[in-house]
Amino acid sequence: MKAKKQILVTSALPYANGPIHLGHLVEYIQTDIWVRYQRSIGQDVIYICSDDAHGTPIMLKAKELGISPEELILETKKQHEKDFKEFFVDFDHYSSTNSEKNKELCENIFNKLNAAGHISKKEISQFYDNEEKIFLPDRYIKGTCPKCKAPDQYGDSCESCGATYSPTDLIDPKSILSNTQPETKKTDHYFFNLKSFKDYLVEWTRNHKLQDSIKNKLNEWLNDNLNNWDITRDAPYFGFKIPNESDKYFYVWMDAPIGYISAFEEFTKQNKKFKDIWINENVGEIYHFIGKDIAYFHALFWPSILYGSGYRTPTNIFCHGFLTIDGKKMSKSRGTFIKASDYLKFFDPEYLRYYFASKLNDGIEDIDLNLKDLSHKINSDLVGKVINLASRCSTFIEKNSNLYLSDKLENEEKYNDFIKSINDISLFYKNRKYSNAISQIMLLADKANKYINEKKPWSLNDSNEIQAISTQGINYFRTIVILLSPVLPELLKKSENFLNEKNLVWNDYKKPLLQKKIKKFSQLKKRILDEDIENFKNELNAPKTLENEKVKKMKDEINYEEFSKVDLRVGEIIKAEEVEGADKLLKLDVDIGELGKKEIFAGIKKFYNPDSLIGLKAIIVVNLKPKTMKFGTSSGMALAADSDGKIIIINADKSIINGSKVK
Ligand code: MSP
Ligand code: ZN
Repeated sequence: MKAKKQILVTSALPYANGPIHLGHLVEYIQTDIWVRYQRSIGQDVIYICSDDAHGTPIMLKAKELGISPEELILETKKQHEKDFKEFFVDFDHYSSTNSEKNKELCENIFNKLNAAGHISKKEISQFYDNEEKIFLPDRYIKGTCPKCKAPDQYGDSCESCGATYSPTDLIDPKSILSNTQPETKKTDHYFFNLKSFKDYLVEWTRNHKLQDSIKNKLNEWLNDNLNNWDITRDAPYFGFKIPNESDKYFYVWMDAPIGYISAFEEFTKQNKKFKDIWINENVGEIYHFIGKDIAYFHALFWPSILYGSGYRTPTNIFCHGFLTIDGKKMSKSRGTFIKASDYLKFFDPEYLRYYFASKLNDGIEDIDLNLKDLSHKINSDLVGKVINLASRCSTFIEKNSNLYLSDKLENEEKYNDFIKSINDISLFYKNRKYSNAISQIMLLADKANKYINEKKPWSLNDSNEIQAISTQGINYFRTIVILLSPVLPELLKKSENFLNEKNLVWNDYKKPLLQKKIKKFSQLKKRILDEDIENFKNELNAPKTLENEKVKKMKDEINYEEFSKVDLRVGEIIKAEEVEGADKLLKLDVDIGELGKKEIFAGIKKFYNPDSLIGLKAIIVVNLKPKTMKFGTSSGMALAADSDGKIIIINADKSIINGSKVK
């Protein structure tokens, strides 16, 4: 027997500032299927991932929510892990790039690169937002395209004509944070000397079996002039500090891929499994699954950084395309930005796994989700052909032989013919041609149903014959479920229960199930109804109309003089209770220090449990004219904001002045 291979697999690390959506899931499901297939054929696999926790967007999102970045990434990680689990994405370890281990490794790799002469320091000019006191990433600057003059374009590229440029080329640039004109400011940055890795990268590209499209892209980049890579960001930034610097941080894309190594090391700390895989290519294989948008980082920077600091490089990088919905990019306003958690309110997670598998191959073309198509595939293939086969055969065998399988197949030769294509199916999985695997498996399901239709067990009288035919049918089903198991792990589990078996693996199809009592069949998967799709679409469209209404209702602009009349103070909520007879209101008692106590009615009952508000420091409009209502007089207002349809009280607990918390 061949020795087990040690294989380390990763998916790209999702950013910790937003929810997992169906686009992400293309990648995590694609990877998980591959990992499950490898495990099923007996390989030793470690599957690692992590939240990508650093960067400006995460810092600003936390600020907007009035929480610390640490709180934000902790909350997001919990939600991400829950989503992955519910879609049966089965990581061995899921970490965060904001970890001790990652900090240590990042500094270590930087020091090694530095010592080897791969880092240089250079003064650059960068746009700076004087109002927000922050250097602006390219995406935080908008202006008119220098080439086609389209207005409102980002600082790195034009969505209208496709030109790429640097933000200083924009006409009339504005910071999107303050809408003011940014100024240019000088700052020292560290660069990774990518240029000097050109020959190495040419060689690396030649020696790795990369996808053709990626190979071509790489050659294109390598023929162009490579630029040294800026790995520095100035404070304020959420990330790791650069050693011996006080206000400079590693750019998130420097520490993120290092997260692959640190998450792996965290996982293997105890058992030392796969020891030295990151330094010694002979220990095992390393595969990164990624989307095509981040190929540049993984195929140019990453191998160079690894090589430059004494590590081995990945065996391969597997790139996939983007998910579109009904042929278009996912979009919030079209109601097609589908969060993993929203999908789960309506559909079985395995339906999406099956659908993606039926569409995925080893290329980087985009894949499209169309709900009609999804329901067709599930109802006619999965339920109509596969589940139905089990349900039919189990009915015969239950009536005829009290669920006992016969001691041999009705037609062994036919079974051997049936399993002939399994080698091909194996190769399809191995080479990530899942859509071919699924087509082949469905041909087998057709064959199995045809067998039952031709044998017509319902029209026979010979009990042994009925039993043998049903046994053959059940074994066809069992084999199909094994072949689908990388895609449908829960169906495998439920089927194991039905077949009275445990831990089926790939090669078990070679030993048919005979002479055994199986269990009574219970529904394994439901059909998708038209109304499920309708309900789902309604849900997706609901927030959109809400958004539109709000846009319509946006009030007239006010000038600064008007706004400055508002007197804002921080107050502590000392009492919160429901108001009898008012279904939206909570009554709050707020302590505003020198101004004493105020009683405020706030329309937030739907969103808060009163007890949870006690002790919260809110921002209070103290000079709002008191308003008398049926329940009492409200003499102020607590600032609240809309966050994804939920009203949240703005929490003023975490204000920082000169680095220390203000009470
Ligand atoms: N944080 C970086 C990756 C760092 S890896 C060291 C990142 N995060 S992401 O959240 O934007 O994307 C995570 C993965 O999901 C990427 O591989 C990305 O290509 C993939 N996808 C994100 N949106 C997608 C679609 N709409 N369709 C398919 N894949 C998509 O990039
Ligand atoms: Zn343009």
